[in-house]
Amino acid sequence: MDIGIFIPIGNNGWLISKHAPQYHPTFELNKTIVQKAEHYGFDFALSMIKLRGFGGATEFWEHNLESFTLMAGLAAVTSRIQLFATAATLTLPPAIVARMASTIDSISNGRFGVNLVTGWQKPEYEQMGLWPGDEFFSTRYEYLAEYAQVLRDLWATGHSDFKGEYFTMNDCRVSPKPKADIKVICAGQSDAGMAFSSKYADYNFCFGKGVNTPTAFAPTAVKLIEANAVTGRDVTSCVLFMIIADDTDEAARAKWEHYKAGADEEAIAWLSEKGAADKSPGSNMRQMADPTSAVNINMGTLVGSWATVARLLEEVATVPGTQGVMLTFDDFVQGVENFGQKIQPLMTSRKHINLLRESA
Ligand SMILES: Cc1cc2nc3c(=O)[nH]c(=O)nc-3n(C[C@H](O)[C@H](O)[C@H](O)COP(=O)(O)O)c2cc1C
Repeated sequence: MDIGIFIPIGNNGWLISKHAPQYHPTFELNKTIVQKAEHYGFDFALSMIKLRGFGGATEFWEHNLESFTLMAGLAAVTSRIQLFATAATLTLPPAIVARMASTIDSISNGRFGVNLVTGWQKPEYEQMGLWPGDEFFSTRYEYLAEYAQVLRDLWATGHSDFKGEYFTMNDCRVSPKPKADIKVICAGQSDAGMAFSSKYADYNFCFGKGVNTPTAFAPTAVKLIEANAVTGRDVTSCVLFMIIADDTDEAARAKWEHYKAGADEEAIAWLSEKGAADKSPGSNMRQMADPTSAVNINMGTLVGSWATVARLLEEVATVPGTQGVMLTFDDFVQGVENFGQKIQPLMTSRKHINLLRESA
């Protein structure tokens, strides 16, 4: 099973809580985290793009670095880990993203891929006059399909003459082409999003669900397998979880309760309101916006001792169609260290990495 890390490009990572570690994103912090992750054999690191925060006492996600430029910097200071940046596709023409990817492919020596997002939070785009109107909620994956086709053409041939409803390429060129096959991620969960992923992406990322219910995402993995039956491609699922671990189950549980008790209700109210704006069938924005456990955006959460978390992660790997997990932590630097030292060595699904590390 692959293990990745969703690096804290925004302030406070993924805990919307006054009781969580409070920090701003910096290159140095993310460099420390990604180098540590590489040291422990993590397979990949991904940064999101977020252009407007949720406010509240914690100023949640009011402070965010930019994804491609951050990953370009990280590419220069790492050597093995796969790196992914996120393209906010309403803000960047595909030919520019194709060229940026080609550049980071060169910096990273073929370790770079792209996460494509349509955007779900209107204020991010409205603030710069780039929101196409609310009808975009229903057409956004048609837009993304054209966008992905242009990227694929440019990366494969260095040339595009694509003519569509949203994009018109006129003998458009990108050179040098990337030396690696640039992997594409999408995290679409709606019916249209899944259909897109199955046709154009290599991996579909999804939210884990609940607390210590590691296989609760299985219906989403099944949806992707069904979409693959239509496209004939083998796109796999990668699942997002937050790890809250400690020496004992009780100590880990106490930390989780403490974070929940400090929830920044004002920031969560913003998330609930904006997340509910998209009424697309099957959109997981409603899961993110559900106020009951929004303190970590309702991502799947694994809480417990090192052994408990290792066992729960092994269960994730049993779900058909699962490529891997992408992890967040309450404290990223300590969290990666603990994962590498105390959790991963207990995991059979990471045996190949454990053997490599033992023989190094
Ligand atoms: C792992 C993961 C990463 C995501 N990264 C971003 C991001 O960087 N920016 C963003 O606007 N949305 C991001 N999203 C939201 C997705 O792109 C997508 O819009 C969302 O999962 C809802 O699916 P839907 O678009 O099919 O309704 C992410 C979602 C997941 C699960």
